[in-house]
Amino acid sequence: MRLDRFLSEAGFGTRKETKKMILKGRVWVEGRPVRDPAYRVKPGERVEVDRKLVEPPSEKRYFLFYKPPGYVTSTQDELPTVIEFFRDLPRSERLFPVGRLDRDAEGLLLVTDDGELAHRLLHPKYRVPRVYEVEVEGEFPEEELSRLEESFPLRGRPTFPARARILERKEGFTVLEVTLYEGRHHQVKRMFSRLGFRVARLKRLRFGPLELGELSPGGFRKLEEEEVRELEASLTIS
Ligand code: URA
Repeated sequence: MRLDRFLSEAGFGTRKETKKMILKGRVWVEGRPVRDPAYRVKPGERVEVDRKLVEPPSEKRYFLFYKPPGYVTSTQDELPTVIEFFRDLPRSERLFPVGRLDRDAEGLLLVTDDGELAHRLLHPKYRVPRVYEVEVEGEFPEEELSRLEESFPLRGRPTFPARARILERKEGFTVLEVTLYEGRHHQVKRMFSRLGFRVARLKRLRFGPLELGELSPGGFRKLEEEEVRELEASLTIS
């Protein structure tokens, strides 16, 4: 981890502030002053500020969570939030959901305390795919699929083209799979509403390389190290 980030996460202020401390020569690593904020701190190295040993920041945590309907994806709200499922974990106050799912929506949500990775995963330049299973009222015509894939203006900015296919037709409903490459507000619902269809159920199945798998509503599991590496590796600009 970079030295400026190491200090910031250990509680020494923002990255800007920790950079300044480093440039001033207040930070020592293994008994020597280091004035490079980009210096990579290796596991076990002694870092000191003003000759006082710094407690290394704790490991970042990543959870794959099945958000049930009825919870809001924020950390504090008058309504029940997704973080309530994590309250019994140590340092749960640091955890937050990555991105949004509507209150009535369900499915895969990444919950972490890694602000930097979260920020990158949500940045539109990486176009991280989000796959949804969408149940709409009525019979959705095959010919309209291409219209779902069109870009349209949303809050003054065009959306990035989506992908859509029909999975199943049920009595009074059509089930579709929709892939978005950005996370704009109510995007799936708005796509269908433009074509006169109401979304009755919305479930996120995938986020980048992560899959909901066998989790049940309200359940979560820790990501394997390999899965975190895959998440990082998926952040390439195409
Ligand atoms: N699109 C929506 O309309 N709602 C969500 O929660 C996610 C995508």
